[in-house]
This record gives sequence, structure tokens and C-alpha cells, in this order.
Amino acid sequence: MSFVESLFNLRESVVVVTGGGGALPSSIAVAFAKAGAKVALWGRGTHHPMAKAADLVKEQAELPPDSPNVAGITVDTASTTACAAAFDETVRSLGMPDILLNGVGGNMGRSSFLDFDEKVFDEVVRLNLMAGLMVPSRIFAKRWIGAGVEGSIINMTSMASYKGLSAVWAYDAAKAGVLNLTQTLAKELAPHGIRVNAVAPGFFVGNQNRALLFDETTGKLTARGQAIIARTPFGRFGEYEELWGAVLYLANPKASGFVTGVSIPVDGGYLSDNI
Ligand SMILES: NC(=O)c1ccc[n+]([C@@H]2O[C@H](COP(=O)([O-])OP(=O)(O)OC[C@H]3O[C@@H](n4cnc5c(N)ncnc54)[C@H](O)[C@@H]3O)[C@@H](O)[C@H]2O)c1
Repeated sequence: MSFVESLFNLRESVVVVTGGGGALPSSIAVAFAKAGAKVALWGRGTHHPMAKAADLVKEQAELPPDSPNVAGITVDTASTTACAAAFDETVRSLGMPDILLNGVGGNMGRSSFLDFDEKVFDEVVRLNLMAGLMVPSRIFAKRWIGAGVEGSIINMTSMASYKGLSAVWAYDAAKAGVLNLTQTLAKELAPHGIRVNAVAPGFFVGNQNRALLFDETTGKLTARGQAIIARTPFGRFGEYEELWGAVLYLANPKASGFVTGVSIPVDGGYLSDNI
């Protein structure tokens, strides 16, 4: 095994990717599978069944269709009971997980401050902070502490974690919360050898933001899409594969065993833009 491979391969690992049917999480799951990990995709199966999501990941990771290394598990990660059951199912089908990628999260619409919808605000906060972090992370922390597993949790922060984006009030609040909780949880779980970090994607075209970035009829960038490109020194959106290196680094204790409580921006320079 080469030196680089010894730092980054995950052949001994079992990874759970929540929101595993989603745009960024499913791509990240491909990276985990390519690094040799067994991967459980946890999701609601709203768009397509989780078994289908697993088939797509296997195909993109160039694994045979009958490979047992990628499994789809239907679960609502806002539910503690459902997460506990999904954890048991993961252990039965793939083995004890040692990495959790909290991929559940997202935004719903945008509005001026005067028009914000209280129900939508609650939903977005719950999506990102409860389903996207608190509920599944607690199940993993409990099980890992009980079994003496020194696991790694990776959360999804955002540019909004560092500086609010206009008109997405709940998303701003929630993602600032994800960054804050990543640090707080890192300290709480450090005595157990459990690391908690985050990846902060800049702007990647996904299901939740496509309509904000491109005009549906013309396919051209919206004013918001143009503003983002103008403020991204690299002058483009990110490619999903550009998240892989940061995630594999944070996942593997051989590469990042002394790293906890950090959020790595993968943003084409968005956060360093100035005038
Ligand atoms: N796309 C971007 O540019 C971008 C940028 C920064 C951060 N992020 C973050 O990355 C994460 C993934 O984003 P995406 O664009 O891939 O979104 P996505 O909507 O494609 O993926 C999220 C997935 O989570 C699932 N999900 C939602 N609630 C769930 C629940 N309660 N239980 C189980 N599954 C549930 C959804 O069905 C979906 O498949 C989010 O946290 C998002 O905020 C995305």
C-alpha cells in the first residue's frame, strides 16, 4: 500500500451518510465507496427508494451491482427511534459504523424579512439542526461511547455559517448553528476520542438551489446566480468531486486524528472575496 493510500483509504470503515439520496451527500458517498468503505445511505426515500440510491452510488463508484458494500436504509433522521433502528440495521447489514456524514439539510424558498413565514422558518431550523445534526449525532455518540468506538462526525456547514446570505433567514440561522454546534460537540465528545468537524461547500448546483441560480425558461444565470459568480474568485460554481478530498481527510483518523471542531470551506475563494 502506498504512503498516500495508507493515509486516506477507508477499507476498515463503515460510513453512514444521511440524506444519502441527495445531491451532495450521494456524491460524497461515492467518494467513501471509492476509498474502500462500506456505506449505508440513510434517507427518506422521497424521490426514489433508498435501494435505488444505493444502486446509483455503486454504479458511480464502479462497484458491481451485486456488491454488498453499499446499502440503502429508509429513515427519518428527525426521529430518535427511527435513527436507533437504522443504526441497528446498519450494524446488521454492514458492521459497526465509525463515520457519520450528516448530509441532511437544506433551504426552502426565500423572502424579505417583513414577509418571512414562521412555519417555514421552524421547518428549516428543524431540518438542519435536528434531522441534520442533533438527533442522529446523539444516537451515534451514545452507541460509540458504549462500544468504545473513536468515531468521526462530519457536518455540512455552508457559506451562510460564516456570513448571512440575503433572504434565507432560517437557513442563515440554522447553518450558523451547525458551525457553532460542530465546535461545541467537538469539545464534548473529545474525551471519548470522537472527532466532530464540518465541510462548508461554497456554491454547488443542487436540487435545493437550482431555481435560485438559473432561470427555468432561459437556462441563464439569475441575478443571484450572477452575483455569486462575481463574488467567487474562481468565477464558477463548484463541482461535486471537489468536496471529496476535504471529506476523506476529515473522515480518516490516519490523516486528521488531531483535528476536531473545524469547518473546511471548499468555496473557490468565496469567503476571501474583498473589494
Ligand atoms: N448545494 C449546495 O450548494 C450546498 C452548499 C452548502 C451546503 N449545502 C448543504 O449540504 C447538504 C446537502 O445539500 P444538497 O444540496 O445535496 O441537498 P439535497 O436536498 O439534494 O439532499 C438532502 C437530502 O436529505 C434528505 N432528507 C431531508 N430531510 C430528511 C429527514 N428528516 N430524514 C432523512 N432524509 C432527509 C432529502 O430527502 C434529500 O435527499 C445540506 O445540509 C445543505 O445545506 C449544500
